Amino acid sequence: MGIVSKLHCPKCNYESASKTLFRCPECRRVLEVDIAIGHLSRTDFVRMREGRDRSIWRWFDFFPVAKPSSRVSLGEGGTPLILASRLGAYIGIHNLYLKNDTVLPTGSLKDRSNSVGLSVAKELGFDTATVMSTGNAAASVAAYAAAAGIKSVVMVPAGTAPSKIVQAIAYGANVIVVNGDFDNEVAKLYQAALQEFGWYDCLSSNPFRDEGKKSYAYEMVDQLDGRIPDWVIHPTAGGTGIYAMWKGYQEFLSLGWIERAPKLVAAQSEAAAPIVAAFEKGLADVEPIVARETIAESIQVGNPASLGWRALAALRESGGTAVAASDVEIIEARALTATLAGIFAEPAAATSVAVAKKLRAAGTIGPGDIVVCNLTGHGLKQPEAIRVSEKELTPITPTLESLREQIQRAQG
Ligand SMILES: Cc1ncc(COP(=O)(O)O)c(C=O)c1O
Ligand SMILES: [Zn+2]
Repeated sequence: MGIVSKLHCPKCNYESASKTLFRCPECRRVLEVDIAIGHLSRTDFVRMREGRDRSIWRWFDFFPVAKPSSRVSLGEGGTPLILASRLGAYIGIHNLYLKNDTVLPTGSLKDRSNSVGLSVAKELGFDTATVMSTGNAAASVAAYAAAAGIKSVVMVPAGTAPSKIVQAIAYGANVIVVNGDFDNEVAKLYQAALQEFGWYDCLSSNPFRDEGKKSYAYEMVDQLDGRIPDWVIHPTAGGTGIYAMWKGYQEFLSLGWIERAPKLVAAQSEAAAPIVAAFEKGLADVEPIVARETIAESIQVGNPASLGWRALAALRESGGTAVAASDVEIIEARALTATLAGIFAEPAAATSVAVAKKLRAAGTIGPGDIVVCNLTGHGLKQPEAIRVSEKELTPITPTLESLREQIQRAQG
């Protein structure tokens, strides 16, 4: 059983026992959940590793859910960690591993968070969950709410392409298109709606939901049989992944289950790199920027207000770094990941591979280092990122001669 001992404010040490208070009333920072894990032993570690359930719930004792019956699970987690030999040889990293989260139930890493978030919502008896999003989070909240028997309301800005929200609609979410900008009008209405209707908040401002991504750390330790990666590279927007992975590794360290933690790297798009900028300037907090358009749409975030500063601290404590890649580099990395490793990731997800390549070229990553790149979303989330030429789609006459010509044209 995951025992929540309390929530505390990482800034001013305010403490709370409430399961519905997410922000510190004194300084407005997002509170952090303390789970009592001191009683866990090596025997528990073995039991968790050997359990038949391969989902994140193998690590039940680390999550803020009291009763196993509250779990809302679609089998998320336990995703393959693949030694990508051909891609690794190409970029000069011989121990390059890809954590393939494209295979999660709704196709993105958000399922790690929302499985935990909706479990807590169910345990507390909420009847509606909500999120503002233009893509992956919307689909994920909608799916887990459906599985939990909870209604979902998803807010998106006007102009969002239907292809981005079709998944959420399919799962039965009530999708509300709001006239206005995501970071301003939509955000304001979202906050007002939370106050007015008391819906369950599934943004990264919900500390319970944020616990889900700790599962990255647990799974890597398990899958590498105790070998610790030298580097873990995560496509970064809000900073939840970096923050939560670090917390997960710290928990295992505190229990003596591992002896060191990896260096963490935040991979961002050059068009939306506030964490990289703050890291380079040595700032303790992130200065919000207006994100420009980027092919890495899912990580186009200019203001990681809730956890950006916690991610910065984790990067520094781990001895890691933060690096931005250009759209050209991201597009190349997406193609390399598909054609050399056989994994079709969305551009945002391939940012981790783009950054691995850059860090290797700069000599920061050595040829023998163990490197894990998180691939956080499926390529079919954004199919329009792939250019398909007219020629490729023009039908041929069904003769061997035309077939030969077409093959030659493709090779030439
Ligand atoms: C595909 C993808 N990768 C990575 C992220 C990064 O999120 P975070 O920095 O909060 O872990 C997101 C979400 O914003 C995403 O949709
Ligand atoms: Zn505080």
